[in-house]
Amino acid sequence: MKNVKIMFLGDVVGPCGTEYVCSNLRKIIEKEKIDFTIVNAENSAKGNGIDQETIDELIMKGADVITTGNHAFKKMNSFDLFENNSKVLRPANFPPEISGNGYGVFEGNGFSVLVINILGIVNMEPLACPFRTAENILKSCEGKYDISVIDMHAEATGEKYAFASYLDGKIGAVIGTHTHVQTADEHILPNGTAFITDVGMCGPKESALGVKPECIIRKLMTHTPVKFELSDNPCDMQGVIIEFDMTKKTPIGIKRFKI
Ligand SMILES: [Fe+2]
Repeated sequence: MKNVKIMFLGDVVGPCGTEYVCSNLRKIIEKEKIDFTIVNAENSAKGNGIDQETIDELIMKGADVITTGNHAFKKMNSFDLFENNSKVLRPANFPPEISGNGYGVFEGNGFSVLVINILGIVNMEPLACPFRTAENILKSCEGKYDISVIDMHAEATGEKYAFASYLDGKIGAVIGTHTHVQTADEHILPNGTAFITDVGMCGPKESALGVKPECIIRKLMTHTPVKFELSDNPCDMQGVIIEFDMTKKTPIGIKRFKI
């Protein structure tokens, strides 16, 4: 079988980020001959979180799976949304009684992909151990998929690297999200796992994680509540493309991009 290319897009921020991704997604899928697309969309709705409208738009334009993170349940109707959309994942290390799935095996054209969504716990919510959660999922899905990708949604770079090292050779790719700044460390780890600390953001340029810098400056200088307004600057779309050799079912390269 021919090599498979998986594209992973960084956190989509706000309606402007969603619109920018939607207007470029088909073009890049065709140009790069992408076989499967994963998009972190936890900030894609107006005011953070996700909603049905942005999910529908992203899926219609070519997203195969949507992942989330610490803003997964920001909207009041998120519980129904995760229950009703099998292509949308919430972090797997939330308590088990919470609605939705933290992982799934999805069918591509002639191959299957295990996608896992995990939330880091350093400087974040004290959820279940990311390392053990991921390892248990890999064990429970053994033999049920061809290739695998984890969205590691975390704040601390050290935690992301340690997590990827722990799973090196057991998973196809560990892709970091959440910090919205694309890092230049994409590479294949010693035992064969593709890794990047943070894949970046699909949202406004010259902004503080998508927000107008003046809001963040005010927040940091006054230590009082401040309404975060989305920047109205033009957007970037940042991501990585991971290429898998399907005879060995292992990654042979990871390339980052920004358009
Ligand atoms: Fe996040």
